[in-house]
Amino acid sequence: MKAADFGADFLWGVATAAAQIEGAATTHGKGPSIWDTFAKRTGKVKKGHHPEIACNFYQQYKDDIALVKILGFKVFRFSISWSRILPLGKGLVNEEGINFYHNVIDECLANEIIPYVTLYHWDLPEALAKNGGWTSYSVNADFNEFVMLCAKTYGNKVKNWIVINEPFGFTSLGYMLGVHAPGETGLTNFFAAVQHATIAQADGGRILRSEVSHANIGTTFSCSEIIPYTQNAADLLAAKRVDCLMNRLFIEPALGMGFPTADWDVLEKFTVSHSAWRHKERMTFDFDFIGLQNYFPLVIKFNAFIPVIQAWEVKAKNRKKAHTAMGWEINADSFYNIIKQFAAYPNIKNLMITENGAAFNDKLIDNYVQDNERIDYFSSYLKAMLKAKNEGVNITGYMAWTLMDNFEWAEGYQARFGLVHTDFKTQQRTIKDSGYWWKSFLEQE
Ligand code: NOJ
Repeated sequence: MKAADFGADFLWGVATAAAQIEGAATTHGKGPSIWDTFAKRTGKVKKGHHPEIACNFYQQYKDDIALVKILGFKVFRFSISWSRILPLGKGLVNEEGINFYHNVIDECLANEIIPYVTLYHWDLPEALAKNGGWTSYSVNADFNEFVMLCAKTYGNKVKNWIVINEPFGFTSLGYMLGVHAPGETGLTNFFAAVQHATIAQADGGRILRSEVSHANIGTTFSCSEIIPYTQNAADLLAAKRVDCLMNRLFIEPALGMGFPTADWDVLEKFTVSHSAWRHKERMTFDFDFIGLQNYFPLVIKFNAFIPVIQAWEVKAKNRKKAHTAMGWEINADSFYNIIKQFAAYPNIKNLMITENGAAFNDKLIDNYVQDNERIDYFSSYLKAMLKAKNEGVNITGYMAWTLMDNFEWAEGYQARFGLVHTDFKTQQRTIKDSGYWWKSFLEQE
């Protein structure tokens, strides 16, 4: 397998996110985000880690963009921190923050790297959390103000936009389970956040379409093949419910299909009876591309003791399957299967893989990181993607997660996903063997 097998126009990139790499979290005019405050709460992030400094990308962006180029990628995906440019979430603009992203974009363009800009990658301004954050309909007007500012400010330079990163991720972890910022729990909060995020992704698309000429507009979804533990009716139905929740909840309203209530009746109660439902016509947008983010499959078993979903995950470790340092099963066939599942929606124009990667317990020894497991992971997942592409799936790009080890949310700095090793004490970067593997993969004719 060579990069050329994917076609000369195929876009190869690396992905990052503001809160995970930038640092300068409370300086240079930036207002706090929900992650800055959440990480200060005892026990919320492993080892008390905090995004305050992260990878110091705020100061080192030139060197880091140089690394993107050295590794041979054509695309750099990064996100704009909402509270860096609008410290209170709305109103007052922080010019220093505005200039920072001008500099990042200009640096990409000067290096012939295409910027893919994510608007919302989980770092809501703390000021908006006080009003209920994503559970409150007022977030939609505020989000639209932020999108409008970004579109007007950067739209003449940036053509490729991602409205929201993994809405299922931040609504479920942050508003139902409480393990991510802002730490809210319960189904009422979750489903309110789901509906407002669904409106936001489509509204964001419309604003970009009206403000940015020749914009290429996408949004991203996490996805996992859901494998029933057995072929028993109970396990099959449990798997179907989890599929509705994890794979279908956000994309189907975006595509104009509404929420998947027919396959999981509970959704009916939480969607059509919610006040946000009166805006349901705003939940649809004709995206130019859909970004899929896949890491692992899930094996699901019926469990009557779990409220509402009545389903339980049988972990990779307990099934004695190969897994990453996150405990996520390594299974490239499931990547192929989930790509095919999404490709079956008739009205998706094209798919991009906007994240895929793996964390391992990397060791830096004599300036080398020998991360063969990561190389194996990428090569098997790329082969699976090529198979889907060769069967006619319109996949036009792939972005590896991630450029360098960074702040992995509630896991802190211990979970290392980077192609480049970050020493968080010195901010020294060291290209891992997997980084060199990518370089030669992308250079090969
Ligand atoms: C999903 C998220 O978009 C990203 O921020 C995160 O670091 C990776 N997946 C790995 O968990």
